Amino acid sequence: MRDKSEVVHLEQRAAEIPSMGGAKLAQLLRRSVREAPAGTAVVEVGSWLGAGTAQLAIGVGNRSPGEPVAIHCYDRWKATAAEVKKACRNDVVLTEDGDLLPTVRDLLQPFQVPIHFHQGELSESRWNGQPIGVYVDDASKTPPLFCHALLTFGASWIPGQTVLILMDYHDWKKDNNRDHKCQKNFIEAHDQCFESIQNETGDISASFAMFRYVAPVDLLSGNTFKDLWRLWLQVRNKRGLLDMVRSGYICDCYDLMRVWLRLQR
Ligand SMILES: C[S@@+](CC[C@H](N)C(=O)[O-])C[C@H]1O[C@@H](n2cnc3c(N)ncnc32)[C@H](O)[C@@H]1O
Repeated sequence: MRDKSEVVHLEQRAAEIPSMGGAKLAQLLRRSVREAPAGTAVVEVGSWLGAGTAQLAIGVGNRSPGEPVAIHCYDRWKATAAEVKKACRNDVVLTEDGDLLPTVRDLLQPFQVPIHFHQGELSESRWNGQPIGVYVDDASKTPPLFCHALLTFGASWIPGQTVLILMDYHDWKKDNNRDHKCQKNFIEAHDQCFESIQNETGDISASFAMFRYVAPVDLLSGNTFKDLWRLWLQVRNKRGLLDMVRSGYICDCYDLMRVWLRLQR
């Protein structure tokens, strides 16, 4: 365990990393990791410059010795023009289309915690099967990405233990984009399996939500096309093919096939 002055110093360093949300959830992220079962992994999907990752790393550093958890981060780490501009406000210089991973490694180096970086498209992401204690998602906000994430990581969630932090869960309220309801639709389709965790941020406009995975969702271990199709209907909140067609989701057929083919590789 770190001493208090070291923790304060690291908290300051973490707060200086440009953030698209992770910094706001500092306490929640640290606490979730500190309380995660030993031997599990923390998976963060969509890390950007590591503002949330730094909080996760502080959480790892605050754990008792001999009770390790490993952090795994997924992102393409390729800077867009908007990201270059945003980082510039915090005096972090990026190049458009440039590889962000070296910058991310530098920013997270002071936290002295091993971090596994998985660089690439989320639609190609894979998981090694280690049980996941904490799952943080700030990127899988559309049905193709979310279904891929569910079928990649979901089978490693531990009933009764895993904490899910879905950072843009309520985004659909702001942009009215029906794709962005996919996380909510899925959670509501399995309301017996996910328990909402109240948080103390007190920010009623917050776009994130936090859940404990309390009972297994069998579909997450599914590996047939039928399982993917059933999952897809749930994230779309539809009853069947006819309902999908009537709702104008016919283009989903193409996305669905792409997700299926990628999961088969
Ligand atoms: C909102 S930002 C994450 C912000 C970060 N969690 C924080 O607290 O500052 C979303 C991240 O997801 C990544 N991302 C989004 N879609 C992706 C995809 N299809 N494949 C790989 N990375 C993706 C982006 O590169 C970006 O870094």
